Amino acid sequence: MSCADPKTFNTPDEIEVRGLSRSFGKTVAVDRIDFQVGRGELFAFLGPNGAGKTTTINMLTGLLKPDAGEIHYHGQRFDPQRLTLKQLIGVVPQHNNLDRELTAAENLLIHGRLFGMWGAELQQRIDSCLKFADLTSKRDTPAGQLSGGMKRKLVIARALLHEPEILFLDEPTVGLDPHSRRKMWAFLRRINQQQRCTIFLTTHYIEEAETLADRVLIIDQARIIAGGTPEQLKQSTGNFVLDIYRADEIESEFFADRRAAMQRLEQLDTSVRIRETTLEDVFLQLTGKRIAP
Ligand SMILES: Nc1ncnc2c1ncn2[C@@H]1O[C@H](COP(=O)(O)OP(=O)(O)OP(=O)(O)O)[C@@H](O)[C@H]1O
Ligand SMILES: [Mg+2]
Repeated sequence: MSCADPKTFNTPDEIEVRGLSRSFGKTVAVDRIDFQVGRGELFAFLGPNGAGKTTTINMLTGLLKPDAGEIHYHGQRFDPQRLTLKQLIGVVPQHNNLDRELTAAENLLIHGRLFGMWGAELQQRIDSCLKFADLTSKRDTPAGQLSGGMKRKLVIARALLHEPEILFLDEPTVGLDPHSRRKMWAFLRRINQQQRCTIFLTTHYIEEAETLADRVLIIDQARIIAGGTPEQLKQSTGNFVLDIYRADEIESEFFADRRAAMQRLEQLDTSVRIRETTLEDVFLQLTGKRIAP
């Protein structure tokens, strides 16, 4: 099914998840989570290491069986055995799983065959995906000889080969330097807008969620603790923050607007700083800890 297939615009929720849970022995990795993702959204699942992000994405893509709960795509219950639903999704795993010995084009070819693509159609899709990912010049380079950023892009190009409607990416920019990370963000936005793909990504980089996502869900210790657009999340905490430098700590107070923060500032005789609230502050307020590892 093509990304732009008009039949797929009928249902408002592309993905709907209810009561999804999964444990490993005594470890509860994902605990009764609920959420919806709308058609065409760029959606970020934000949380610290071990929060349950990969476990969730693995259940959403059929790699892992939930203990409880339901996953629906367009209102249809997800059954990994059903090929039509599997065709809807493309998956970029947390760790690149390219065949290092094979060239960029050969890695795509093998993936295409797995999705039942052959001949001229497959060659044309390989050309077009390599071009879209700016990897045409690396077509015949073994994957093992590509840079980290190029490998990541090749894994994404591979996931796009069968024209999925939803692209899942588990930590798309982990290991990339700041410049490559920004280029990757632009690439993901391009996929979202030009290929009209819904994007579901996990990240533990606050800036990534804040800069890139239309909507963010914050997950911590297996539970969803907040959700909304980055603006809504910041608004719910207070758009402005006053950092008060006490003797041995920085205390933060939140205010709806700058004027309220200024009024408070006038009452203080210690060193202070007014700044705009970030998603990091939101997370810190909700959990009492910082997200950055
Ligand atoms: N196959 C497994 N066997 C046992 N425990 C697991 C397994 N997979 C995940 N877990 C545990 O489940 C919890 C959630 O792990 P998960 O990989 O989903 O976290 P994450 O949010 O993706 O973290 P990270 O940011 O480090 O990738 C952790 O406590 C982890 O140790
Ligand atoms: Mg993970």
